[in-house]
Amino acid sequence: MLLPVGFLHASIETGRLRENFDLGWQFHKGDIAIKRAVKAGKQGGLTDANVKVVEGEEAVIAYTDKNKVADYKASDWRNVDLPHDWLIEESFVHDDNISSQPAGNGYLPTGIGFYRKEFAIAAGDAGKKISIEFDGIFRNSTVWVNGHLMGNHKSGYTPSFYDLTDILRYGDEGKNVILVKVDATDTEGWWYEGCGIYRHVWLTKTTPLHVARFGTFVTTPTVAPEKAVVSMKTTIENEYKTTRHFQLVSRILDAVGAVVDTQVVTDSIGPSQSTELSQTGMIRQPKLWSPETPALYRLQTRIIENGIIVDNFETTFGVRTIAITTKGFFLNGKLYPIKGTANHQDFAGVGVALPDKINQYKIKLLKEMGSNGYRSAHNPPTPEVLDICDREGMLVLDENRLLTSTPEGLDELKTLMLRDRNHPSVFMWCLENEESLEGQVTGTRILEKMVETAHQLDPTRPVTAAMNHGWNEGGYSDVLDVVGYNYGQRGMQYVKDHEKYPNRKMFVTESTSYVSTRGEYEDNHEKGYVSNFGKGVGWGLQPGQDWKHVVLYPYLSGTFVWTGFDYRGEPTPYRWPCVSSHFGIMDLCGFPKDGYYGYKAAWTDQPLVHVFPHWNWPGKEGKLIKFRGYSNCEEVEILVNGKSVGKKKLSAFEYFEWDLIYMPGKLEVRGYKNGKQVARQIRETTGTASRLTAKADTLSLKADGCDVAIINIEIKDAKGRVVPTADNLIKFSIEGNGRIIGTGNGNPSSHEPDKADRRKAFNGLCQVLVQSDRQAGKIKLKATSETLEGTEVTLTVHE
Ligand code: GAL
Repeated sequence: MLLPVGFLHASIETGRLRENFDLGWQFHKGDIAIKRAVKAGKQGGLTDANVKVVEGEEAVIAYTDKNKVADYKASDWRNVDLPHDWLIEESFVHDDNISSQPAGNGYLPTGIGFYRKEFAIAAGDAGKKISIEFDGIFRNSTVWVNGHLMGNHKSGYTPSFYDLTDILRYGDEGKNVILVKVDATDTEGWWYEGCGIYRHVWLTKTTPLHVARFGTFVTTPTVAPEKAVVSMKTTIENEYKTTRHFQLVSRILDAVGAVVDTQVVTDSIGPSQSTELSQTGMIRQPKLWSPETPALYRLQTRIIENGIIVDNFETTFGVRTIAITTKGFFLNGKLYPIKGTANHQDFAGVGVALPDKINQYKIKLLKEMGSNGYRSAHNPPTPEVLDICDREGMLVLDENRLLTSTPEGLDELKTLMLRDRNHPSVFMWCLENEESLEGQVTGTRILEKMVETAHQLDPTRPVTAAMNHGWNEGGYSDVLDVVGYNYGQRGMQYVKDHEKYPNRKMFVTESTSYVSTRGEYEDNHEKGYVSNFGKGVGWGLQPGQDWKHVVLYPYLSGTFVWTGFDYRGEPTPYRWPCVSSHFGIMDLCGFPKDGYYGYKAAWTDQPLVHVFPHWNWPGKEGKLIKFRGYSNCEEVEILVNGKSVGKKKLSAFEYFEWDLIYMPGKLEVRGYKNGKQVARQIRETTGTASRLTAKADTLSLKADGCDVAIINIEIKDAKGRVVPTADNLIKFSIEGNGRIIGTGNGNPSSHEPDKADRRKAFNGLCQVLVQSDRQAGKIKLKATSETLEGTEVTLTVHE
């Protein structure tokens, strides 16, 4: 197409600058009394804030006059970089009165904390619009800039945004200081939620004529093999005092950056006005997005004034079709049942303050298990999780927990949807989880308003609610596109409902909740451990059985197993000393439990057998030991010390059991399909612990101060076999351009600090997280243990 002259000459890329604002903060734990200065100051006057430290120390956190910092005491603060979760630095307290839900928090005391950061803004930035975006602060955050109160944001999960343009000091006007109060005293959920600025922070500079926050909406109303039609809606704001004439140039780029379409529209916009412009583009022979082929496109939105690019905004999107029908979920026209897990946000060593790399690691582990779906229970995920799911291929059920139609509640839902609606990974919105008004007429009225809001903001995706009751009452299900069943296997509710309401579209929004502690084979109330042979909870199922239902009843569309990973808090069925949940298919470090293989067997084509427990039972020689296994083979055979003890036919998605007489040595399990051996597992009686080995997920890190290597330590015997019961204390030391940011071992009752240079192994395994700093070079991580041969890993940090 012919491009307007203005476009051809547009070459100066000014406009938007989005800077990461995570580094160089200071943190103060505990409350600070804030009062406004009563006398007019020279700079900022009445709005400069004095801060009084509760212990009686007076300090001013704002710059009252140019660069002068009155009474600020650096010793009250320590340096931190974000993301930061101070709760993970606390010690466990067995006190049921420390908060409204001590067990929910994992017995860690929540509270109040402050963050501050000094920064300069160049004189040349005067005239730009400058804003700050917090991706997530847990919770109830209040922000002051240069002493001016900017606002308060309650939710610990939705982003908060402040326009700083008027209040900033530019160039010689002085330095700036931002102060953030975080009051995490109240909880939002019943799980570990952390404390602090635990997601990224961004400072954005634009010209006054710019694309609005969340200002693009890209959809693909028609998708066919020969072409996809791309609808591009762009909201533009003019914060000048005059009318502006501009061109909106929308370019679609493919994965390698080649421009596949360009659309241009010329328009003008009055002072202090905003406008939404619609354009239609086209992609020939589009590459379709799916978890297996996560093809992405980029929309590059440019605003051009007088031949100059004044804004350049990028939106990643994908081309795919989704449909939830009474016959199941269809992706790109093909039946595609969702093999999902529900997940909270935390991880070993870091609490909820996950560097992006750890989120990526979690998604990778889930994909390796064969999962293609992720439910961000019960809240909006960090934006980077969605970027990763787009990139790596994982379908997301994006969630808002509270059933509410108050203006504040609807705003939360709107923010979630406006922020996330361009992600191809997001396939459905979950409007609430297990709210008490499900199935009641009041609940239906509220839900209806939420559904209306959701449909207006995104007509392309269905909405559901993760219900645990009331499916057939009060008209509640009727206002949903898809009816969500949490534990709908109880009384075979979903099957009965399908018979009664054959037009109902259904989804298993939550299932199973199987509880188990990695490597434990007996319930131990005192220690807070749950056996991998357990019956599970009363409302759940055994690993893999939930999948059997999706296969038998394809109209269920898919399932989200509760949960992919253990998470802190909500210890079930035991409480203290247990401080973490046991629901994970993997533990807090991402180490697989036995049930993992039930899912891997169900969700992948890879033939496998996995039996448990281990084969180390000193003192039980000659005694019967119960074995259980998961497999996707048709038949298994067990051999003890080379001798077959028989074969067993298997039924799909169910575990098998065997009573074996224990004899130290070798247990071998063979899996057969069509009479041919296709899988094998060997469990051997190991010798005593003798040495450590380390397995890093990568040996190469970026010198960006954020990248992380996840290093798993195994305790092995002299023959190199993991000792499944070893719990030796492991000490870590580090040299070079990096730091240890946390440790973990997956023990749900461990009260050892996560932020430490040592950790006991738990059932043979332990984990240490190493983060690069901003200099290229080498990092050497050494792991030692008193009676064992140590190990080391060398990581290369690249520019
Ligand atoms: C569900 C709930 C989850 C978790 C789970 C434990 O009912 O949605 O948040 O509490 O139970 O089984």
